[in-house]
Amino acid sequence: MDDKEVGKYWDENAENWIRLARLGYDRCRDLINSPAFFKMLPDIKYSKGLDIGCGEGHNTRIAAKKGAKITAVDISKIFIASAKAKENREPLGIKYQVASAIDLPFPDEYFDFAIATMSLMDISDNEQALYEAFRVIKPNGFFQFSITHPCFTISALGWVTNDEGKRTGLIVSDYFKKYEGEIEEWIFGAAPKDMTNKMKKFKIPRFTRILSEWLNLLIKVGFVLEEFCEPYPEEEILKKYPEEYDSTIIPFFLIIRCRKPNK
Ligand SMILES: C[S@@+](CC[C@H](N)C(=O)[O-])C[C@H]1O[C@@H](n2cnc3c(N)ncnc32)[C@H](O)[C@@H]1O
Repeated sequence: MDDKEVGKYWDENAENWIRLARLGYDRCRDLINSPAFFKMLPDIKYSKGLDIGCGEGHNTRIAAKKGAKITAVDISKIFIASAKAKENREPLGIKYQVASAIDLPFPDEYFDFAIATMSLMDISDNEQALYEAFRVIKPNGFFQFSITHPCFTISALGWVTNDEGKRTGLIVSDYFKKYEGEIEEWIFGAAPKDMTNKMKKFKIPRFTRILSEWLNLLIKVGFVLEEFCEPYPEEEILKKYPEEYDSTIIPFFLIIRCRKPNK
C-alpha cells in the first residue's frame, strides 16, 4: 500500500475522527500522550518547526502556542482543510499544507526542528519519512516523535485480571509480526456508545516495526538518540479518569527525541 492509498483511508476516517477528538474523546492523546510529549519538548520559542502527519492540528496548535513558527503537513486533504479552517477562525500563524511525509516539499535544512505525533507508524514508508525529516532539519536541529509502543500495542494482547475482574497485567504475543498496511479497525472507546454505534469505525493501515528496528533505523539515518519517554498518567488524571488505569500497567506510547549532528 502506498501513501496515496493510506491518504484515502484517512480522508474517510477524518470526519468522525475530528468530531470525536474535538469533543474530547481522544483521551489517550489529551490525558497521557500529549502532556508527556510537550513536557519533554525542548524550548521552541522563536524557532521554525515542521509537524509531520498533523491530522486536524490539535498538537500543531499546542506547539504554535509555545511560540514556534509552525508549518504542518498531512496526506489527508480533509484533515488539512479542517485544520486550515480552525486556523482561519483562531489564527496562530500556522501554515498547513497537504503533502506526504515521504516526499516533503521543503528545501534541505529548512527547519530548526520537526515533530511527528502518532503518525510514523501510520506512514507507508516510514524509513523514507525519517530520511526526509533528517533532510529538512538544520544541523543540530531535533526531531521528536511519538508512536504506539512497539512492545505493547500489538494485536495479540490479552489482559490478565484478578478475582474482582480488575486488570493486573498483560500477555503479549506475536511481538515480531510485521504489519505492512494491514487495516486496524477501532473507534475512540471513551465516546458514548449511542454516538459511536451510528458511526463507521476508523480503518487505519498500520506499518509496524519492532523496537530495535526503530532505534537502528534512526541510527542508520544519521540521528543521535537523545531522550526517551514511556508516558505514565499523572495522579490527578487517574483520580478524575480511573479508566485510564490501564496506562499504569503498560506504556501504550513511546516518545523519542533525536538530533541531527552538526556537520
Ligand atoms: C493517528 S493520526 C495523528 C494525527 C495528529 N498528529 C495527532 O497527534 O492527533 C496519523 C496521521 O498520519 C497521517 N499520515 C499518514 N500517512 C501520511 C503521509 N505519508 N504523509 C503525511 N501524513 C500522513 C494521517 O493522515 C493522519 O492524520
